[in-house]
Amino acid sequence: MINVAVIGAGNMGKHHARVYSELPGANLVAVCDSDEGRAKTVASRHNCKPYTDYNEMLQKEGIDAVSIAVPTKFHKDISLACIENGNSVLVEKPIADTVENAEMLIEAAGKKNVTLTVGHLERFNPAVQKLKQMIDSGEFGKINSIVAKRVGAFPPQIKDANVIVDMAIHDIDIFNYLIGRAPVRVNINSGKALINQRDDFADILIDYGRINAFVQANWITPVKIRNLTVTGDKGYAELNYITQELVVYRSKSMEIDNFNDVVKFGTPEKSVIEINTEEPLKLELAHFLDCVGNGKKPLVTGEDGLLALKVALNTFGIHPTADVSGKAVLGNGTKVWHHSHIREEASIGENCVIGKNVYVDFAVKIGNNVKIQNNTSIYHGTEIGDGAFIGTGVVFTNDKVPRATTPDGNLKQACDWSIGKTCVGRCASIGAGSIILPDVKIGEYAMIGAGSVVTKNVPAHALVFGNPAQVRGYVCKCGRRAEKEPYTCERCKK
Ligand SMILES: NC(=O)c1ccc[n+]([C@@H]2O[C@H](COP(=O)([O-])OP(=O)(O)OC[C@H]3O[C@@H](n4cnc5c(N)ncnc54)[C@H](O)[C@@H]3O)[C@@H](O)[C@H]2O)c1
Ligand SMILES: [Zn+2]
Repeated sequence: MINVAVIGAGNMGKHHARVYSELPGANLVAVCDSDEGRAKTVASRHNCKPYTDYNEMLQKEGIDAVSIAVPTKFHKDISLACIENGNSVLVEKPIADTVENAEMLIEAAGKKNVTLTVGHLERFNPAVQKLKQMIDSGEFGKINSIVAKRVGAFPPQIKDANVIVDMAIHDIDIFNYLIGRAPVRVNINSGKALINQRDDFADILIDYGRINAFVQANWITPVKIRNLTVTGDKGYAELNYITQELVVYRSKSMEIDNFNDVVKFGTPEKSVIEINTEEPLKLELAHFLDCVGNGKKPLVTGEDGLLALKVALNTFGIHPTADVSGKAVLGNGTKVWHHSHIREEASIGENCVIGKNVYVDFAVKIGNNVKIQNNTSIYHGTEIGDGAFIGTGVVFTNDKVPRATTPDGNLKQACDWSIGKTCVGRCASIGAGSIILPDVKIGEYAMIGAGSVVTKNVPAHALVFGNPAQVRGYVCKCGRRAEKEPYTCERCKK
C-alpha cells in the first residue's frame, strides 16, 4: 500500500482524490486545499483527513506520494516542499511556470531520489498509446506531419495560464512523445480574442526536422474539439482524444510514374482500430504508484515536462525569422538568431550560437560549442572545429578566381567554379571583419587579429594579423600573448 495525498482539491484535484480512493494499491490519507470548504468536502467524500496547510499535512501524515493540482504558479513551491520531505510527486501540467523553476524541481527530485512525474494525461489515453505503437512499428511509413486541434469554451477557474501553457501543451507533449525527439524550431502566432489579459488563441507550428507538427488551441470555439491526425507516406490516422476513437486510412495501391512525378492512389482502405477505452487519469495514477512502489522510470519524466514547457514558452533555439533548411542538421542546444540563413546539408553541432544575419552556405560543417557573431558569411567548403570563435562580419571566401563570367563572357555556372576548402581548427579565434581566403588551414587555438586578410595557413597557437596576415607571436589556450616558444601562461599553464 502506498500512502498518498492530494494537494489542491479543485476541478482536477478532486478527480485525483476519487481515483486514488478507487485504486487498490493506494491508501488516500489526506486532501489539502487552502479553501477549507473544498478540503472538507473532498476529504469526507473519500473518508480521509482534510488540511488547509500542506506543510502541516506533510509533517503530520506519513505520506509516500502526492498529487499536486494547485494553480500553476504554485507548482514549484509546493512540489519542492514535497520533494524535500522525501515524497514522490505527480505535479499537474505544466510542470512549472518557468523553465528555471522546472529545472529546480528536476534537480531536487534527482538529489532526493524520489519519483517526479508530470500530469500529461493524454499520454495515458489508450488511443494515443495504440497510435504510438502503430507509428513505432512503421504502419504509417515515414511520418510527414502531425496536426492537433484543442478548442472549446473558456475555463473560468484557470486564472494564471494562457491557452498555450494550459491547453496546447497537452498536444506539444504528445508530439514530442510520438516523434521521439525535441523540436528544432517553434513558431507561435497567438493573441487575445475574447479576453484581454491572456492569450486565448494560438496557432503553433513546430519543426522537428523533417517532420512538421501543428496545433490550434483556443478558448473561443463554442464546441469542444480535441483531435489529432498523423500523415505518413504509407497511411493516415485520425484520433479523437475525447471518444478515444482511432481511424486509419491506408492506400491499397500506389503507383509512381516513370518520371517520379505523378502518384496514383487506389481507393483507400479504412479501418476503425479497436481500443480498450479506459479513464486516462486512472491509468496515469496507477502508473505513478507502480513507479513509486517498484522504482520504475515514469512514462512522463520531469525532463519531458520541461521540454513541453520550453516549446510552449518558445525558448527554442531558432528565431522565427531565421531561415533554416529542413535539410540542415542542428545539434541540441544550438541557437540561431534573427534573419540568419542556414542552407541545405549544412551541419552544426551542439550548443553553438549563430548570431544575427549569419549566412551558412550549402554543406558547411561546424562543430560543437562554436560561437559565430553577427553578419558573418561562411561559404561552401568551410569546416569549423569545436569551440571556435568567429567574430562579427568575418567572411570565408571560397572562389579562388572570383570572376562573374567565363572568358567567353557567359555568366559562370556551378561547373565553372573550383571551390576551395578552408578549415578552422579547434578553439581558434577569428577577429571581427577578417577575410579568410580559400584553402587556408587555421591551426588550433590560433588567434586572427581583427581586420586581417588571411592568405596562407596559420600554425596552431599562432597570433596573426594584418593584410596579408603574418605571424606576430603566439597565444596560450586562454588567449594571452606569449612572445617566444616554448611558452607557458601563468593562468592556464598552456
Ligand atoms: N491534466 C489535465 O488534463 C488538467 C486539467 C485541468 C487542470 N489541470 C491542471 O491542474 C492544476 C489545477 O487546475 P484546476 O483546474 O483544478 O484549478 P482549480 O482552481 O479548480 O483548483 C485548484 C485548487 O488549488 C487550491 N489551492 C490554491 N493554492 C493552494 C495552496 N497553497 N495549498 C493548497 N491548495 C491550494 C485552490 O483553492 C483550488 O481549490 C493546474 O495546474 C492545471 O493546469 C490539468
Ligand atoms: Zn593562458
